[in-house]
Amino acid sequence: MSPIIIAVDGTAAAGKGTLARNLARIYHLSHLDTGRLYRAVGFKMLKEGKDLADREAAVSIANSLTHEDFDNPALRNEDIGVAASHVAAFEEVRKILLVFQRSFADQPPAGMQGVIIDGRDIGSIILPAAPCKIFVTASLEVRAERRLKELHQKGINCIYEAILEDIKARDARDETRKASPLRPAEGAYILDTSTLGIEECVKKACAYVESKYPEARKHIE
Ligand code: DC
Repeated sequence: MSPIIIAVDGTAAAGKGTLARNLARIYHLSHLDTGRLYRAVGFKMLKEGKDLADREAAVSIANSLTHEDFDNPALRNEDIGVAASHVAAFEEVRKILLVFQRSFADQPPAGMQGVIIDGRDIGSIILPAAPCKIFVTASLEVRAERRLKELHQKGINCIYEAILEDIKARDARDETRKASPLRPAEGAYILDTSTLGIEECVKKACAYVESKYPEARKHIE
């Protein structure tokens, strides 16, 4: 069987990361969360006191990233997500990170059934030939509720309205930028998670994956 290649895209806080991690576990796939790449650039911009509109600085930071930069636990913070969505609008930054993403997809580690990559433009730009494309979304309100819960669980104090506004602004930046705007890839399977729990989402996604890869082996149920 040829390696499984799954592209997962979607709006902020819709559950694409959780879905991708689950599918990676179930089918034994190597997983790349591409948000971490943009977050790593955003993190360094803030750390070095750069203006988020400084294109040259963002390009130079993107060029100098190393694997250690992607493992920083601080990348998950809200302010870094916002910074990432600013630097992600620079076409040159996207081109630099594209090379890393494509080479990840080209070399599934030995013993794995393939790769799963999640982000915003995986099905449309990074891996347009991927046989499996999933676009994950949910209503703005549901996404804000989920993000609020996640932050409260981490002990971070925040209010629903502020998160709602943050996500709305991030959607607008992701969807209206000129370089690779967020939108479902042609032929993508649209998974609206607004009224679904994680198990149901995973079950639906597995049915879709297996419609494309009937020979995919499940490592766990
Ligand atoms: O998925 P995330 O929240 O970690 O992504 C952070 C930001 O990075 C998001 O607002 C837009 C940008 N991003 C992108 O433009 N393209 C990707 N493939 C992944 C993330």
